[in-house]
Amino acid sequence: MEYRYLGRSGIRVSELSLGSWVTFHKQVDVDHAVEMMSAARDAGVNFFDNAEVYAKGKSEEVMGAALKKLGWRRGSYLVSSKFYWGMHEGINEKDTLNRKYLMEAIDGSLQRFGLDHLDLIFCHRPDPHTPIEETVWAMHNIIESGKAIYWGTSEWSAQEVVAAIEIAERHHLHKPMMEQPQYNMFHRQVFEVEYARLFRDYGYGTTTWSPLASGLLTGKYNEGIPDGSRGSLKGYEWLREKLTDPKLINKVKQLSTVAGDLGASTAQLAIAWLLKNPNVSTVITGASRVEQVKENMKALDVVPKLTDDVMETIEKILE
Ligand SMILES: NC(=O)c1ccc[n+]([C@@H]2O[C@H](COP(=O)([O-])OP(=O)(O)OC[C@H]3O[C@@H](n4cnc5c(N)ncnc54)[C@H](OP(=O)(O)O)[C@@H]3O)[C@@H](O)[C@H]2O)c1
Repeated sequence: MEYRYLGRSGIRVSELSLGSWVTFHKQVDVDHAVEMMSAARDAGVNFFDNAEVYAKGKSEEVMGAALKKLGWRRGSYLVSSKFYWGMHEGINEKDTLNRKYLMEAIDGSLQRFGLDHLDLIFCHRPDPHTPIEETVWAMHNIIESGKAIYWGTSEWSAQEVVAAIEIAERHHLHKPMMEQPQYNMFHRQVFEVEYARLFRDYGYGTTTWSPLASGLLTGKYNEGIPDGSRGSLKGYEWLREKLTDPKLINKVKQLSTVAGDLGASTAQLAIAWLLKNPNVSTVITGASRVEQVKENMKALDVVPKLTDDVMETIEKILE
């Protein structure tokens, strides 16, 4: 495992990390979380991603309980949460990045984790109604309080990120250091085009999500939706159209051939391909069982096999 600087910060994240969306609490209990996080850590993972909204706080509880069981030294790993959607229906408590919500959200998150600080916290979406200046000050104050170490954005436009950085610089506040965007073979435009100036001009870091497009890039949906997969879960019906899109499935089949020629699984190829991009600080992988964690971590062995020729073949398939 290599460790990449999280943008222009002094902190280094393992190039592969593990997240808990959909999985923790819904598919993965504390014992399984222990098993999966151990397997990830054995492979060199030092960053575990979470969010307040995942399973309405239960995902943080499962990860916190797993961390307690694992007993790792606090300095040896990074853990995150993300705020925006909120846990309550109150007028000031959902779909917001207002100061009151954020100051209370971090406390709720720490309580559920059973930790006294988080390493990375993210504004989970932009909030068009709260002035960016208010959000920047609140995130700065959370960092100053010691409850979190670095802050960043998730799915913000490049323009919004630049506005936040400039406000922070103007007032000598802690700047946002990293974005958490979707990035995979089927979702490239924002990362590769819109964010180019964030990487070039600001050295912005990234913790990228859905490397397998929710499993589509494993090939498991090639013949329909298998039982027990994410696509079969209640509440995730909205994913099904994309997971069974014939045009995308056709590309997955071609990618599987490329992967097979390299002695890799399609999932490993898709993850390794992301690691070829130097603007990726860490790829947050997702898994519903430990075997998937182990398979996905082995994507590291595939990276050196992605020669210019192979990358060109992949590019033609993705076009
Ligand atoms: N900031 C944001 O807005 C945001 C949004 C989404 C995610 N995230 C973060 O990014 C993380 C990763 O996202 P993701 O879970 O969507 O990642 P993903 O890699 O696109 O999908 C992961 C899912 O694919 C299936 N899978 C994974 N490896 C597999 C393998 N080797 N073989 C077969 N199936 C496999 C599993 O689902 P099944 O086994 O159930 O089919 C697994 O839960 C999340 O946990 C979260 O921390 C952030």
